[in-house]
Amino acid sequence: MEKQAIVMSGIRPTGFLHLGNYFGAVRNYVRMQSEYTCYFMVADLHALTTHPDTSELKKNVSRVLAENIACGLNPDKAAFYCQSHVPETSELYLYLNMLAYKGELEKTPTFKDKVRLQPDNVNAGLLTYPVLQAADILLHRATLVPVGKDQEQHLEMSRNFANRFNHRYGEIFPEPHAFNYGDELIKVPSLDGAGKMSKSENQYATLYLSDEDELIRKKVMKAKTDSGPTTPNSEKPDYIANLFLLMELVSAPDVTKKFEDDFNNCTIRYGDMKKQLAEDMVAFIAPVREKAEAIRNDEKYLKEIMEKGAAKARASAQVTMALVKEAIGLNYY
Ligand code: TYM
Repeated sequence: MEKQAIVMSGIRPTGFLHLGNYFGAVRNYVRMQSEYTCYFMVADLHALTTHPDTSELKKNVSRVLAENIACGLNPDKAAFYCQSHVPETSELYLYLNMLAYKGELEKTPTFKDKVRLQPDNVNAGLLTYPVLQAADILLHRATLVPVGKDQEQHLEMSRNFANRFNHRYGEIFPEPHAFNYGDELIKVPSLDGAGKMSKSENQYATLYLSDEDELIRKKVMKAKTDSGPTTPNSEKPDYIANLFLLMELVSAPDVTKKFEDDFNNCTIRYGDMKKQLAEDMVAFIAPVREKAEAIRNDEKYLKEIMEKGAAKARASAQVTMALVKEAIGLNYY
């Protein structure tokens, strides 16, 4: 039998998951778990680069686990684990750090963003964040990495580190690539028309999988619109195009088409469109929220999942690390 492709991805435990995390990542995890050998991980070590206060960490890890399961992730199919429970990650990170250069790390856009957001805590972990991410992926010699568009650059860096290792020490790592079932990687836009939905910026423009129905309605109804187009078939301004994009994600195709037609013949009423979008969002988010709430405090269940996941992940990691050490020449005795 042909060996199944290996899939790896991770999410930082820095708050509740939002619609971007779902459509960029988790939706693909759920589909991939039945087709590939999958390793999904809660990136608690990555969270330390921006959240040195660890008092909320346990709660946040539990939320991410519960929300993924509520979205359909099946821990019997995919290994689902916590990054810090697989110490081989940190070992590979150390080896890869010797192949990562200060200049390229300083140029990384996500690093520059973090320097802007936390100028008083520009730590070495922040600088080498993409190296740790490469270690997560290469540890399982994964080739498919389901992520949103914002992670494209990190994946390119992971490929560079893999290739550099292979050139210096011998072919151990296949090239990992960002993956989405559609043609392109997804970027779920924020409700204010500026940028993407994100855990750390503009909370009110981000829809969380934990938002109550009323809050979802409020957020959607506040989204920016205008008085509507005056010429048929005109181009949509960004903030309107974003509303359509969100609608395509959660509403029925004929509903989206009706509003598209209304836009094109200049009869669109954005109030009606937002009401429809709000109700479709509520219908999408409410069941996930309720399921996650029921799982989140079940410590025994979550612990079992993490232990099982870590055991599978460590077994895979140990095979890779034996090859890595042999290739580097760290096998004298
Ligand atoms: P994180 O925690 O920021 O996001 C988790 C996943 O959600 C996707 N995502 C989005 N997709 C579409 N539209 C959006 N608005 C949006 N916002 C977030 C992200 O692309 C990601 O797939 N560095 C990673 C975590 C990580 C990782 C890894 C990922 C650690 N190790 C190994 C893949 C492989 C991160 O901070 O994701």
